[in-house]
Amino acid sequence: MRILVTGKNGQLGRSIHKLVNADAKIDNNQSSNDFIFVGREELDLSSESSISHYFDNNDKFDIIINCAAYTQVDKAEQEVELANQINHLAVKQLASIANEQKAKLIHISTDYVFDGENDKPYIETDIPNPINVYGKTKLAGEKVLQAVMPTNAIIIRTSWVYSEYGNNFVSTMLRLGKERDELSVVSDQIGSPTYATDLAGAILEIIKNKEFREEDQTTQIYHYSNEGEISWYEFAKEIFKIAKIDCKVNPITTQQYPIPAKRPKNTLMNKDKIVGIFSVNIPDWKESINTCMSILKEQQ
Ligand SMILES: NC(=O)c1ccc[n+]([C@@H]2O[C@H](COP(=O)([O-])OP(=O)(O)OC[C@H]3O[C@@H](n4cnc5c(N)ncnc54)[C@H](OP(=O)(O)O)[C@@H]3O)[C@@H](O)[C@H]2O)c1
Repeated sequence: MRILVTGKNGQLGRSIHKLVNADAKIDNNQSSNDFIFVGREELDLSSESSISHYFDNNDKFDIIINCAAYTQVDKAEQEVELANQINHLAVKQLASIANEQKAKLIHISTDYVFDGENDKPYIETDIPNPINVYGKTKLAGEKVLQAVMPTNAIIIRTSWVYSEYGNNFVSTMLRLGKERDELSVVSDQIGSPTYATDLAGAILEIIKNKEFREEDQTTQIYHYSNEGEISWYEFAKEIFKIAKIDCKVNPITTQQYPIPAKRPKNTLMNKDKIVGIFSVNIPDWKESINTCMSILKEQQ
């Protein structure tokens, strides 16, 4: 199978690449899957003609995994059109191309499609109500994908993604923790972090699954994050504990930390559906942050 992965330089794209490479070493490149990783240099989702050009000049794919996205939540409040093009209109185009090629499409979405006012974990059928531009563009992407591809696609909503790659909450905390003696972190936003390698592993499991490979399955939404529920404040404390960084963390409210884009309060997601259908592994957030931090330590 020819499998296209977009967003090759992003956290999830790089994590899928890492796992595919590790698998290739184990089975000595015997896998029948051919993964093709592309970044914006090859396939620029901000340009309709770049997308057409890429697919017109490459052989058909069996699966497209769309890890690329406009992910700068605060900047999106200003760059509405660009965020909409990448997170919505490009998804529409990818879905049409997937239909033409009879390819399956795995698209990644976000907990930020919800307003965060739920008092229990969100299930896939809860009504979305995004409160920032990023969330609105991602929801528009979900909707257009379901309209264009009523079958043969899956949407995985994830949350608080971190990894050993690029800029994320963990890398920011490690940098600030070394620079400062004290730090204030928001304690009234609750969610579950997602280690990108765990999500990458779940996606690779799904691809292997018989259920996913069957033709003309109705397009479905699934939720995936690590297990457990925490605030950003608790997450920061755990990161410093593992890294043995002596930096005091003070809990503050969202109101005390003004930023351009509003953030939902509670974005915990219920993962029963994805576990029930695909039997994917969902490690606890503490286990995964330890794994990521030990990899970061090895890289030093
Ligand atoms: N990060 C989170 O906390 C979070 C939370 C919930 C959901 N998600 C979703 O999870 C998915 C993966 O996120 P991630 O954390 O891996 O994001 P990421 O690290 O920001 O990676 C996104 C990738 O998209 C690429 N991209 C941006 N604009 C592009 C364009 N015009 N054309 C082609 N590629 C473009 C970026 O390319 P460059 O490297 O060249 O900039 C980057 O490699 C996304 O769908 C995101 O919305 C993320």
